[in-house]
Amino acid sequence: MSRQTILAANWKMHGAPAGFDAADSPYKPHASVDVIVFPSFLDIRACVAAKITTGGQWGCSEPDGAFTGDVSMRMLHAAGCTFVLCGHSERRHKRGETDDDVEAQVIAALEAGLHPIVCVGETDKQRENGKERTAVKKQVMAVPHGRVTFAYEPVWAIGTGKTATPEIAQEMHAFIRSLLPKDQQATTQILYGGSTNPMNARELLRQDDIDGLLVGGAALKPDEFRDMVASAAELSS
Ligand code: PGA
Repeated sequence: MSRQTILAANWKMHGAPAGFDAADSPYKPHASVDVIVFPSFLDIRACVAAKITTGGQWGCSEPDGAFTGDVSMRMLHAAGCTFVLCGHSERRHKRGETDDDVEAQVIAALEAGLHPIVCVGETDKQRENGKERTAVKKQVMAVPHGRVTFAYEPVWAIGTGKTATPEIAQEMHAFIRSLLPKDQQATTQILYGGSTNPMNARELLRQDDIDGLLVGGAALKPDEFRDMVASAAELSS
């Protein structure tokens, strides 16, 4: 399989970990793994200055204007970001973002020259009711395909310590891949996210359709993140 492995650090609403810009920082570009950091808006410029591949955790679909508190995709690009997260479950569930909002963000991100990572995933209720595929399909089909990366992040696994088993994750990743146009199935990267850590990273990364990880809590601990990058590098060599 020729898809490059991605290890993405989502720092959420936390400051940059101490030493993030040090010469031996695990957040800096790696020879065999694409390491991407999603800091708060306030830390974007410091990450870019430290030559870290940087993304926005969110971006407004409007290019500019009277949107107090927002930052546009265009502004993220101008600040040096190359990636942006769209549709993270915390935005969907805590900020009420809809599939239409996420679609508009993806389109704006592509127009601004950013690479969107679109997060999708079912809630625990949806899984209990056997509706996980329906829920994820709706989110995947809501965005344009081709120049986006997906992150499967089951809502019940985010920040809960409950990781999807490698089998569940693989099954959902294969399902997501099957929804993509035939000519994009082999090339589209699909990351897994939700309570990943140095203990479970390796087994998840071993799955055929898992092309990397979107890491929250463990990405705030440089040593843990370093370990995960090392596992990814070892498996992709
Ligand atoms: P977690 O977060 O690793 O802390 O579960 C993942 C995410 O929200 O992207």
